[in-house]
Amino acid sequence: MASESLKEEILRLKRERHAVILAHSYQRPEIQDIADFVGDSLALARQAQAAECDVIVFCGVHFMAETACILNPARTVLLPDLEAACSLEQSCPAEELEKFLEENRERNFYVVAYVNCSIGVKALADVIVTSGNSRRIIETAPESRPILFVPDKNLGAWTAAQTGREMVLWDGACHVHRRFTAEQVRQARAAHPQAQVVCHPECGPEVRALADHVCSTEKMIGYCRESACGSFIIVTETGILHRLRALVPGKEFIPVAGGAASCTECGYMKLNTLEKLRDCLRDMAPVVKLDEALRLRAEKPLLRMLELSK
Ligand code: 13P
Ligand code: SF4
Repeated sequence: MASESLKEEILRLKRERHAVILAHSYQRPEIQDIADFVGDSLALARQAQAAECDVIVFCGVHFMAETACILNPARTVLLPDLEAACSLEQSCPAEELEKFLEENRERNFYVVAYVNCSIGVKALADVIVTSGNSRRIIETAPESRPILFVPDKNLGAWTAAQTGREMVLWDGACHVHRRFTAEQVRQARAAHPQAQVVCHPECGPEVRALADHVCSTEKMIGYCRESACGSFIIVTETGILHRLRALVPGKEFIPVAGGAASCTECGYMKLNTLEKLRDCLRDMAPVVKLDEALRLRAEKPLLRMLELSK
């Protein structure tokens, strides 16, 4: 539990720097509690784009802070720990995607990139999607071109099934979500037969097949709130449980693997701490810096996504 003085110091520095603190739903509870806004990748991108303060402190992973910087280059974007990476991003290096597109030039792929990717990959994409809007965006993809979906084969396969559009899938996956197993879901159901299973589309096909509902972190909140059911087995990173319990009071939320941190936490997301949040506001570092030519290329497909998901 953080001392009151640390929280007060963060709030004082935030005022002095004219900063806004944005946090992803997988952040530590104490970071979610001090943030001005908590959300999924899509909501955070929108917030970052609209931010009018001088400084955006992005409590999430690097590609999210980078996205904030692409969409709002006039602000200084701070990331409390620069090492906060993403295994999905790492599963699709921009050079490999460029080589693949070069070698398959005659296929004229319509490149759809999940937002969990580097600026270099975004710059090669026609449009970006998040887990919250992939279905809607794919429905607008030109019928005349084959779709290449990068980097998450699981979100890609789920979206293909939802929309009936065929896609070539990049062989990438999230190390957290690929660890959930069908056996874990069966065991959780046996222990909590009254509960519904809600999972993130980054989970593998065997897990998705056993779920009552598959959706992004943000949509989980609405689904659980509106459902007549009173308890839910949640199959995603455990950080979302803090938000679910706060925003949907009176219902029960059960982490699928019993909350064992070793298999249900994203170590990258958890790198950010209140101390690092204080330090970055105090030192105005680490700052996310981008090459302007690359930023302009990556901005196009991001703006297309925001336009299509209005
Ligand atoms: P959401 O956009 O659903 O928050 O997902 C982001 C993410 O990193 C999932 O692992
Ligand atoms: Fe990336 Fe997976 Fe962590 Fe999400 S949970 S930030 S996809 S490594």
